Amino acid sequence: MRTSNLRSTLAIAAFGAGLGACRGMPSEKPPVHLQQNMDFQQRFDPQEENPMFEDGRAMRLPPEGTVPVGWLQEDDHLYRGRGIDGRLADALPPGMKLTRELLDRGQERYGIYCAPCHDHLGTGRGIATRRGGGFAVQPKNLHEPRLAAMPLGYFFKVITDGQGTMLSYAAQIPVEDRWAIAAWVRTLQASQLARASDVPEEARNRPVPKALAATRAAQGGAP
Ligand code: HEC
Repeated sequence: MRTSNLRSTLAIAAFGAGLGACRGMPSEKPPVHLQQNMDFQQRFDPQEENPMFEDGRAMRLPPEGTVPVGWLQEDDHLYRGRGIDGRLADALPPGMKLTRELLDRGQERYGIYCAPCHDHLGTGRGIATRRGGGFAVQPKNLHEPRLAAMPLGYFFKVITDGQGTMLSYAAQIPVEDRWAIAAWVRTLQASQLARASDVPEEARNRPVPKALAATRAAQGGAP
């Protein structure tokens, strides 16, 4: 190798080593921020101090006598599933009626938001539980006696707040739809825990719908 070649190779190696040495070196200076966008603004964040006010709070209380429009959510039954006694209610909120449309809506929404884990019958063996490693905590079988005995408001509450490892679906499912789903869960429970005598005489010998028969067969149950 010629001397000049050797020199330039050494120079490049030294430059590289120099660059490498900068990694992990702490600096007191803020990082270079070429594109500022709106990252730096004169504004107060929540809970921040503002010396302009006597109480030092940047977040101001609404003036006395303010009338909330829209977001008050003071109806405990509708928004929290609780009656006036503070206990979980076992009925739809007074403003909602148990109709065919409500149940259809509940069935549809249940199919979208719950069936992937709890399956279409509510047994807790939805398609998501059969993928990959499955779930560390199985989705609950909605027909187990403890859950079958729960008031309607309990299912609204579980959807709203989540329960154990199950997350809240409050952000995805509007309040009325949560009640519709709760009503559908109750319908599923009634269907699975029903006795032959609950079925009207003329309907007893109707064939099992194909989709239902297929689901039961996949779960190794009776057709
Ligand atoms: C991503 C999967 C998943 C989805 C989607 C899901 N759940 Fe669950 N659910 C679970 C799991 C897991 C548990 C058990 C949680 C635990 O015990 O820690 C559970 C538990 C429950 C329970 C029992 C609570 C108790 O007291 O033990 C109810 C009721 C329930 N889910 C209803 C629903 C309804 C209604 C929906 C649809 C809005 C839904 N779940 C959507 C996974 C899911």
